[in-house]
Amino acid sequence: MSFSRISFFFILLSLAVIFQMVLGTNPLMHYCSSNDNFTSHGPYERSLTKLMGNFYYLAPPNGFALGSLGQNSQERPYGLTLCRGDVSASDCRTCLAEARSEIQKLCPNKKEGIIWYDNCVLKYSNKDFFGQIDNQNKFYLLNVQNVSDPMTFNLKTKELLSQLAQNASTTPRMYAAGELKLDDQGSKKVYGLAQCTRDLSSVDCKKCLDGAIGELPSCCDGKQGGRVVGGSCTIMYEIYPFVNA
Ligand SMILES: *[C@@H]1O[C@H](CO)[C@@H](O)[C@H](O)[C@H]1NC(C)=O
Ligand SMILES: *[C@@H]1O[C@H](CO)[C@@H](O)[C@H](O)[C@H]1NC(C)=O
Ligand SMILES: *[C@@H]1O[C@H](CO)[C@@H](O)[C@H](O)[C@H]1NC(C)=O
Repeated sequence: MSFSRISFFFILLSLAVIFQMVLGTNPLMHYCSSNDNFTSHGPYERSLTKLMGNFYYLAPPNGFALGSLGQNSQERPYGLTLCRGDVSASDCRTCLAEARSEIQKLCPNKKEGIIWYDNCVLKYSNKDFFGQIDNQNKFYLLNVQNVSDPMTFNLKTKELLSQLAQNASTTPRMYAAGELKLDDQGSKKVYGLAQCTRDLSSVDCKKCLDGAIGELPSCCDGKQGGRVVGGSCTIMYEIYPFVNA
C-alpha cells in the first residue's frame, strides 16, 4: 500500500469515528411539553443546566438520581434520571451525556421533556412529579416476528413479567430480570426485565408494572419480543437473553 493510500485509509477511519461520536446512539423516543416555554438564559434554564450537570455525576454510581433546583417555585425544574438496571456506571454516564445534549436540541426552551434510550431515561418538568405514576409518557416497541404458539407464549410471558414485577417492586433498586422455560425440556425460554423509577413506593411500582403488563395484548400479542416503556416503569421481554451479565 502506498503512503497516500494508507493516509487516505486513516482519514476515512477517523471520519467514521468522528461521525460515530457526533451521531452517537439514537434515542428510542422523546416527548416535549407543547406549551410551557422558558426564556433563554433565564432562571429556569440556569437551574435545569445545573440539575442536569449534577445528574451526570450523581446517577452513574447507583443508576438513579432525582432532584429539584431553584429559589422561585415558578422557575423550578424537577428532574429524574434512571439507567437500566444491568448497565455499567460508565455506560450509564455515556447515556446521560447523550440524553442531556439531545433533549436540549429536541425540546428547545420547553419546560417539560423526557427522552429514552436503551440504557437510560431522562425526564424534567416544572411540575413536581416525584412519587407519582406517569401515565402520560408511554410507548411500545415490538419485535414483529410471530411466535408459533401465541396462546401459551402470551401466558408464559405474562407469568414471567408478573413475577418480575413482584420482585422489582420489593427490591431497593426496583429492578428485576429473569427467565422462564417455555417447554418441559427448557430448550426454549422467554427472558424478561422489569424496572421502576425509584421515586415510586413499592405499591406504586407494582401498580405501574402491572399496568404495563396489562397492555401487552394491545402492544405485543404473540410477538417474539416487546417493550412497554413509560416515564415511571418499563417491562421488556425477548426469546433470547438480552440482559448484561
Ligand atoms: C411556546 O412556544 C411555542 C413555539 O415553540 C409557541 O407555539 C407557544 O405559543 C409558546 N407558548 C407560550 C405559552 O408562550
Ligand atoms: C404475524 O401474524 C399476523 C397475523 O396473525 C400477520 O398479519 C403478520 O404478517 C405476521 N408477521 C410476520 C412477521 O410474519
Ligand atoms: C423472584 O424472586 C424470587 C425470590 O428471590 C426468586 O426465587 C425468583 O426466581 C424470582 N423470579 C424471577 C422470575 O426471576
